[in-house]
Amino acid sequence: MEKLWAGRAHGALDAAADSFNSSISVDSRMYKEDIRGSIAHAAMLAKCGIISPDEGSRLIEGLGGILADLESGALAIDPSAEDIHSFVESELTARLGDVGKKLHTARSRNDQVAVDTRLYLRGEAERTVLLLKELIRAIASTAGRTQDAIMPGYTHLQRAQPVTFAHYILAYGMMFARDIGRIEDAAKRMNVSPLGCCALAGTTHPIDRAMTASELGFDGYCLNSLDGVSDRDFCVELASALALVMTHLSRLSEELVLFSSWEFGFVTITDAYTTGSSIMPQKKNADMCELIRGKAGRVCGDLITLLTMLKGLPLAYNKDMQEDKEAVFDAFDTVKACLGLAAPIISTLEVNRDKMLAAAKGGYINATDLADYLAKKGVPFRTAYKLTGRLVADCAERGAALEDLALEEFRAYSPVFEADLYDAISLEKCVERRTSAGGASPANIAAQLDYLRGITG
Ligand code: ARG
Repeated sequence: MEKLWAGRAHGALDAAADSFNSSISVDSRMYKEDIRGSIAHAAMLAKCGIISPDEGSRLIEGLGGILADLESGALAIDPSAEDIHSFVESELTARLGDVGKKLHTARSRNDQVAVDTRLYLRGEAERTVLLLKELIRAIASTAGRTQDAIMPGYTHLQRAQPVTFAHYILAYGMMFARDIGRIEDAAKRMNVSPLGCCALAGTTHPIDRAMTASELGFDGYCLNSLDGVSDRDFCVELASALALVMTHLSRLSEELVLFSSWEFGFVTITDAYTTGSSIMPQKKNADMCELIRGKAGRVCGDLITLLTMLKGLPLAYNKDMQEDKEAVFDAFDTVKACLGLAAPIISTLEVNRDKMLAAAKGGYINATDLADYLAKKGVPFRTAYKLTGRLVADCAERGAALEDLALEEFRAYSPVFEADLYDAISLEKCVERRTSAGGASPANIAAQLDYLRGITG
């Protein structure tokens, strides 16, 4: 295929260089956006009198025909084309002859690729937000059915204070809600049209950038043409938001692997999302969670790829930038695949209340509540803390829980203890009474569910 850029060159491109230079395998997925951008451009050229109305109509019709044929399968993308922009333009010229050659007036592949990428990523951002909402809905539904499931909350992976599984899993709901905000912020900043920046400096043709921007659903157009063709901040911002999505998914996956182990047994991942071993018949491995955790590395890598690719580039376009798409597309592909699995894993998760309660009963996770009990009766908290520490140490030696001691035994430590102490340290009450805003109490669970419902709609 003759190169679109065969201007001053005489000799043909070396075969290895040609294949090295090609990006069609990566950017062919933007064919719809490429054609949509070209249709808007052709309409603008005609409206501004840069081409005739008839030429404009023929270009638009020709482009529409290519889109229809690609969708129906009547036309296949030529893998030997340099990129999707070259492919569409040569196909158009093959169909229309000289008129096809007018499409690229007042345009460069530099602004073209920037438009296509922004349009395509706008769709990817929307699709990813929908999947995040699905996952948040799964989290909320699992939280809804586990409000009574008491488990130990941890710090340093040591049993710390009682919470419910609902409160625990809703923490992830909050993370994914922020992820939606970050993606939407980045998508908003990205939604500015570079079309009409041309190669780097704009054009002497009387184009109307506002027209193409609004036709393509942008909020406006880039004000500096050099910036418009060389800005890839939006790829970095989106990849960064996606790397954080993966970080959250990875933390959640790690806990599901841990909590579904024999050692914990807090949750059971349904068979649909676990695998066995080819040699050990008893095995039930959390492969999907492990893969999600593993794939977090890819997306962090994509972000670093983009930052490193950009950091030394002089203005404006450089071919290095062709590498942006592989990285940011991979980030979206990976995140979408992981979100698609995480949602059903969470919504079908079985929560083993007895195991969690047994763990909650060991480990003196109501010790803070005992100290608080004394503090509420006027004992200075630091004194109450020390006294409770002694009680825990003595109980640990005897292999008893705090609530196993008789009132008389408690009173030997302090006369402040009365029969109501047992109520104060019952695990249910410890959770119920954490009514401070954002705490583990049922009212706070309801507030979180409300908040998330506002986000998922
Ligand atoms: N395939 C190229 C890319 O993805 C299109 C832009 C080419 N522009 C150029 N001046 N060679 O970046």
